[in-house]
Amino acid sequence: MMSTLNKIPVVLVGVTNGLGYSIAKALIVNPKLSVTLFTRSSEANPILEPFIKGGATIKNVDYTSVDSLSSALQGIHTVISTIFPVDLTPTRNLLKAAVAAGVKRFAPSEFAFNEEANAEFDIFKNKKEFWEEVRASGLEYAAFRTGVFLDFFATGAPVKYEEAPLNIISLILDIGAEEKEIPGTGDEKVTFTSAHDIGEFVSAAVLLEKWPEELGMAGETTTLNQVVHDAEEILGRKFELTYVTPQELRKRADEKGATGDWFGRFICQVRAALVEGKGDIKPYLNEVTDVKPTGVKEFLKKYWGTQA
Ligand SMILES: NC(=O)c1ccc[n+]([C@@H]2O[C@H](COP(=O)([O-])OP(=O)(O)OC[C@H]3O[C@@H](n4cnc5c(N)ncnc54)[C@H](OP(=O)(O)O)[C@@H]3O)[C@@H](O)[C@H]2O)c1
Repeated sequence: MMSTLNKIPVVLVGVTNGLGYSIAKALIVNPKLSVTLFTRSSEANPILEPFIKGGATIKNVDYTSVDSLSSALQGIHTVISTIFPVDLTPTRNLLKAAVAAGVKRFAPSEFAFNEEANAEFDIFKNKKEFWEEVRASGLEYAAFRTGVFLDFFATGAPVKYEEAPLNIISLILDIGAEEKEIPGTGDEKVTFTSAHDIGEFVSAAVLLEKWPEELGMAGETTTLNQVVHDAEEILGRKFELTYVTPQELRKRADEKGATGDWFGRFICQVRAALVEGKGDIKPYLNEVTDVKPTGVKEFLKKYWGTQA
């Protein structure tokens, strides 16, 4: 058995939501890692039970205090954050504490599209701002880029989605709907990766000697026309398709913004950005790790295959 001394001490920040949960699952079974989970929950939260059983150390941290975060980070090599930076304070304090504690490397909560997309989406504005702070921190750092979560294709499926406590929504395409609106021509490349595989890629990436700035991964990079084709085959029926231009999507985004529907605006912005290739992720981690991710068709079969 490998001694704790030889293991890489890693902190995962944020556990109770789906992504952090899936990453935690992958980290705790990696024998080369010693895992600490930062959470606002207490150890009594049943969601944490498998991680405690799996040997993770749970730290209920105070994100308002750089000093206490810094003492919780003593001796840590790698910090991976999943906190969506709606408010930058907890994330910023974490970075300051990581620097103060002498942490070697830091991954902010990216897990989406390319840098250009962060500049474009209103609700990713803080991701962009924080990315510059991470770059200036002096730490080794990287952005995990994933494209769209493949898990969203399980929305409304006959097989219940139980991979993680993730809030799944039909962000891009409602697989079960008879009528589907496709952004662009449907032939633009889009990357999809499942939360499970993101966990596997992140766990493997922690073992890499050196991190480049971009740690892209792909369950599969495909097109929406191909996804629809696969869904038609698996569900055994044809769908009615209409195509919408990015210009129209941007117009809708503005209309949604004018009525204060910020999430509706975000969805329109994402759909327009995908047409422009901002969700086509270079799969660096597929090339340098042994992870064998789930592709779109395999995923659709798992959740929708019982209807074939
Ligand atoms: N590519 C895609 O399709 C896609 C889809 C969804 C999300 N994402 C990305 O995945 C990442 C995680 O998203 P999410 O929606 O799960 O984020 P989130 O709601 O912020 O949750 C992430 C974790 O952060 C902790 N947390 C939440 N609010 C916090 C706060 N105010 N202070 C400190 N900790 C807090 C929670 O852990 P504890 O309760 O354990 O403290 C939670 O498990 C984001 O970067 C997001 O953009 C990508």
